[in-house]
Amino acid sequence: MQHFVVVGILVILTTVLTYLGLDVAGLAKHQHPVSASLQSISIDQLWNWEMMVISFLFSLIIVPMLYSLIVFRQKKGELEDGEHMEGNATLEVVWTVVPIFLVVIFAYLGGKSLGDVRRVDPQAVTIFVKAQQFTWTFEYPEYGIISSELHIPVNKQVVLKMTSADVIHSFWVPEFRIKQDVVPGRYTEYRVTPILVGDYKVRCAELCGTSHSYMENAVIVDTQEDYDTWIAEQVEIAKLASLTPEGQGQLLVARNGCTGCHSLNGTRLTGPTWLNIYGREEEMNDGSKIVIDDAYIAESILDPNAHIVATYASPSQMPAFVFTDEEIANIIAYLKTLK
Ligand code: CUA
Repeated sequence: MQHFVVVGILVILTTVLTYLGLDVAGLAKHQHPVSASLQSISIDQLWNWEMMVISFLFSLIIVPMLYSLIVFRQKKGELEDGEHMEGNATLEVVWTVVPIFLVVIFAYLGGKSLGDVRRVDPQAVTIFVKAQQFTWTFEYPEYGIISSELHIPVNKQVVLKMTSADVIHSFWVPEFRIKQDVVPGRYTEYRVTPILVGDYKVRCAELCGTSHSYMENAVIVDTQEDYDTWIAEQVEIAKLASLTPEGQGQLLVARNGCTGCHSLNGTRLTGPTWLNIYGREEEMNDGSKIVIDDAYIAESILDPNAHIVATYASPSQMPAFVFTDEEIANIIAYLKTLK
């Protein structure tokens, strides 16, 4: 009896220590990124209960095992066989019934959490998401806006209808907790109700190629007021842009996600930066030098492998694009403005 009391106390102590250890290691809820969506609340809750049960079950196995190893070890001079035992019906019933209960309870909690996460608000705002190597583009069909940043209003459900232009990607904002694969040839849905205004990032969570780790875009949860302002600004920009060649070029660039690989500020990404690109002399990977003019830009869009700038991956990471001559002229007009 005394052994049971001691082991019982040790199990409780080890459970608490294991849970605290998991917490320090960043696995329990106190070390998680902030929870910024309605859906994250029930996911965090479920995760935390699981961590508690895991800590307890771990202790329930490890503590009696180590205790027996130490306390019941063969002492010096003890040579006779151990006591003979034949089964223990009570113990078998207990270790069958208790896990069954646990599994049923967690099946219920898991189902309930899934229900919370998938709850559909018929008023949800629809935004189309396109993933491609290695960037995201967001389209607001109601307003005719295309953006490389995802702006969403706080406390309103949005439904992202997502598809991929090439391989499988995965939409993951850690602060929202939910993650959803983005698959070519079909639309997958992602429902989220942000509850905390702030700047976050979508990270691609599916290994999709060499620059997978750079496939991050800004996700901004705005107040309703800021969201409305942003939408109005974007509508205005799109309207003005459609009036000039460089504006139309900029829209084409946004629509095709070019800036996921070509920075506008001089940063080196998967492809060369577009800052001061027009008229720049670049060394190619065959040692030749080329001045970047209309012909080179057009060739690079239509056949990215023709001449690759030195130090960039060969074959080129960029897919060939199909544009009309006018569209290419518009893109070139836009590139000339990037100084
Ligand atoms: Cu897209 Cu990883």
